Amino acid sequence: MSIRRFVEDGVESFEAEIDGEMIQWDKGLSYARHLQTEKLLSAQVPVTDKPDEMLFVIMHQTMELWLKLVLHEARIAVAAIQADDLGHAGKTLDRIATIQRHMIHSWEVLATLTPHDFLTFRGYLRKASGFQSHQYRELEYLLGNKREDLLLVHADDAETHARLSAVLHAPSFYDEVLKLLARRGFAIPASHLERDWSRPYEASEAVEDAWLAVYSDVEQYWDLYMLAEKVTALEYYFQEWRFKHMKTVARVIGQKQGTGGSAGVNYLVKALNLSFFPELWAMRTRMVAPKAGGNYADGGAP
Ligand code: HEM
Repeated sequence: MSIRRFVEDGVESFEAEIDGEMIQWDKGLSYARHLQTEKLLSAQVPVTDKPDEMLFVIMHQTMELWLKLVLHEARIAVAAIQADDLGHAGKTLDRIATIQRHMIHSWEVLATLTPHDFLTFRGYLRKASGFQSHQYRELEYLLGNKREDLLLVHADDAETHARLSAVLHAPSFYDEVLKLLARRGFAIPASHLERDWSRPYEASEAVEDAWLAVYSDVEQYWDLYMLAEKVTALEYYFQEWRFKHMKTVARVIGQKQGTGGSAGVNYLVKALNLSFFPELWAMRTRMVAPKAGGNYADGGAP
């Protein structure tokens, strides 16, 4: 049971036999230094001594970490779309979808917090609420839910306010997808290619027509069709996250007001009607069976 010391690449290194394996480590970069575990693990600071508050804190913190990664990947997806690199964009959107499914499933952990557990510390949370999550707001802005009034709660944090304001005023992920459609020759109206990006997105019939054209000839537009499905999945999972949040909240606080001041569950239900990519959903109603190999109802071959 001894440690062998040696120098590798000018770095003080160590080796020891542990459990039959030759384990090595060095003073260059340790696990803790790379991952900042000391900082990370000292960031759980409950405001009460109630045992269930730790779950509440860690649930929010893990969600914030995943939000950070989703934001990071979404920016990569935007850059890939700007560069007409749909392969890279698709790979990135697949990763985002996997993270989203993981986030959705993680609500199950919070669902073990009973109304009784939550009431032991809820009063101490004062006005703190997920409503104030700047990463969540940034993601909503980036995807296209442009609502300037939501910036107000960040008015006294100049840095956060400036970052959110910049995302609010820039083209969203969906705006970039529409620019891509225009570059590919689809008739996207000028009003959707250059506008005040901070204003809420308004659905356009011409954009819906463009998506319908893509879905009506998937062989010709295969890459755009695949991209469209991945973009649809992004909203599909976002809504599922919202739904699970709403349902978990209903399970824990019933119809009580939120700590952030809203009506609570009813406020969260309203968000279920929001849509980042409205034409991608509307277009589906207008789709008909393909001419060749269509279904029985249209008299096509089975
Ligand atoms: C027992 C746990 C939770 C309860 C009771 C709860 C309750 C609420 C309520 C009532 C709202 C509406 C705003 C308000 O009046 O406060 C809200 C908003 C929000 N919560 Fe939660 N929440 C919980 C857990 C979480 C977790 C784990 C996250 C993860 C980050 C989260 C993120 C958010 C976000 C982002 C909003 C803003 C939604 C929007 O504006 O559309 N919440 N929450």
